[in-house]
Amino acid sequence: MLIAQISDLHITTEDASAWSVDTSATLRRAVEVLNSMEPRPDCVLATGDLVDNGTDAEYKILFTILEALELPLYILPGNHDDAALLRMHLHLHGYLRADEAGHLGAVIDSHRVRLVLVDTTDASRHDGVFPLARAEWLDRVLRSQPDRPTLVAMHHPPFATGIWWMDAIGIEATDRARFEAVVRAHPQVVQVVAGHIHRSISRSWGSTMLTVCPSTAHQVGLSLGRDAPALMTLEPPSLQLHLFTADGFVTNTRPLDIPGVFDISSRVGDWEAVKRRFERGGPFKKNESMF
Ligand SMILES: [Fe+2]
Repeated sequence: MLIAQISDLHITTEDASAWSVDTSATLRRAVEVLNSMEPRPDCVLATGDLVDNGTDAEYKILFTILEALELPLYILPGNHDDAALLRMHLHLHGYLRADEAGHLGAVIDSHRVRLVLVDTTDASRHDGVFPLARAEWLDRVLRSQPDRPTLVAMHHPPFATGIWWMDAIGIEATDRARFEAVVRAHPQVVQVVAGHIHRSISRSWGSTMLTVCPSTAHQVGLSLGRDAPALMTLEPPSLQLHLFTADGFVTNTRPLDIPGVFDISSRVGDWEAVKRRFERGGPFKKNESMF
């Protein structure tokens, strides 16, 4: 199974740009990239901050652009979203799931990997929350199918990233510990994916990999110092691909636009022989190929 993830789209009506990035244009490009991928992703997860200011006009632009996406799409809110408005637009566009909990969480059981969407937002806060009621919901959901490999998606990452000013609007320590306790009790959770930080980051808890997806628009600069300034950068708008195999997930980050692509297949040597050798296993000798 191949799961694509887009995050922090930040669609806005303000001069059609945020932080010097035309976020509508980068989302249109993301949709184009997703539609043309080979192999095709089985679905797309959009992990919050869909729009910049939570306005109706922004959601209209968002869903107009997303209409062009030819893949199943599952949506989560972020701290820049307005949950009530988003809920209305999800209804309008047929995205709201029947098993929706009181928050905008959801369970998708129609794929090889079970997808559990956890809403970490609170309408009055930029930082993330994971209150007892959502912990009980998640625990109940995970207990119902303990043997199915499961991916949990959320907006706020459930760990401190080291970028202090973003961690200040992360999930506070008590709620993080509550989330970790639930996930550790359910080892079928093979991956937790998040957004919010606008850059690619990963860490693990035991057998569970935790990953953060970059933004389809502007990125947060890497600044790990305690007195580091808050940096936004024009590092490449990107999405992530989570490939699930018998060995678990492999996550790749894919810039929307790649400045140079060179097909070197013909320079490597007898390409069919290389494929046969790969399938058979064994050493690749230096005098047999041009790697
Ligand atoms: Fe964001």
